[in-house]
Amino acid sequence: MAFRARHLLGIEGLGPDEITSVLDLADNYVDLNRQDVKHDTALSGLTQINMFFENSTRTQASFEIAGKRLGADVMNMAVDSSSVKKGETLIDTALTLNAMHPDLLVVRHPHSGAVSLLAQKVNCAVLNAGDGRHEHPTQALLDALTIRRAKGRLHRLTIAICGDIAHSRVARSNIWLLSKMESRVRLVGPPTLMPSDAADWGVEVYGDMAEGLKDADVVMMLRLQKERMDGGFIPSEREYFHRFGLDPAKLAHAKDDAIVMHPGPMNRGVEIDGTIADDINRSVIQDQVEMGVAVRMAAMRLLAENLRADRAEKASLKSVDA
Ligand code: NCD
Repeated sequence: MAFRARHLLGIEGLGPDEITSVLDLADNYVDLNRQDVKHDTALSGLTQINMFFENSTRTQASFEIAGKRLGADVMNMAVDSSSVKKGETLIDTALTLNAMHPDLLVVRHPHSGAVSLLAQKVNCAVLNAGDGRHEHPTQALLDALTIRRAKGRLHRLTIAICGDIAHSRVARSNIWLLSKMESRVRLVGPPTLMPSDAADWGVEVYGDMAEGLKDADVVMMLRLQKERMDGGFIPSEREYFHRFGLDPAKLAHAKDDAIVMHPGPMNRGVEIDGTIADDINRSVIQDQVEMGVAVRMAAMRLLAENLRADRAEKASLKSVDA
């Protein structure tokens, strides 16, 4: 089996064959999700807990829908009213939940690395739903599925990722994935929002939208992630939109059939003009949301298969010992 991972913590640790196997399975789930009856039994009997320590609309909703469609018992931990507010540490919360025998734990956390740390403490499969500015693997997978379905392939494409790269886990996971699949990644944004070591990431770096978007196949816009900023990174939103906001004039530099992406939530008039976001001939933003459910179904199913295989192996070793 191509997908070997025990947890889905990032794209960095996946091979191209593993990425392809998630996308291939997700394609089937796109079809299932378009039927009236959307049920599968791949996760039946399993318990999925979603723990979101940061706000989320799309990611949390789609993980919940994905688990339910596959027959899992899904529990959303309400972090705001949990003992986290009474000072319990992340690890203690995780150990408490672990004692209830979950099989899949979906975690979003504001600190980079927190989800990997947690994965070392529990006996179930852990999925990273975004950790700080580090990684957001299911976002990159759903972006890849959207691109593959729109362009027919993932290799030899020019993809411009634009805006607040410095604070973006979406950018980092996408750079890993698109580079592994042999596409060319360009990062476009003001120097204040560009990581100082970006040039070492095997990408091209641009400070100007006209140059960065020239002949691009895909234009991926990012939100200004103010919750991760501790000072003034841009002169004003108006000025930022003027230089880096995607409008028809800037998009005209990309290929005629270039698609426009955004992970959401969008700030219209800041990083993207509303007319482009709503242009069904260019924008695939709603497709990204649809692909999000399918990709999460695929990822959880593959992790559950590995988890079951792992448990069966441990059980047989135990019976040999006995
Ligand atoms: C992104 C995130 O949370 O990293 N959103 C998402 O998951 N759809 C991007 C963002 O918040 O700007």
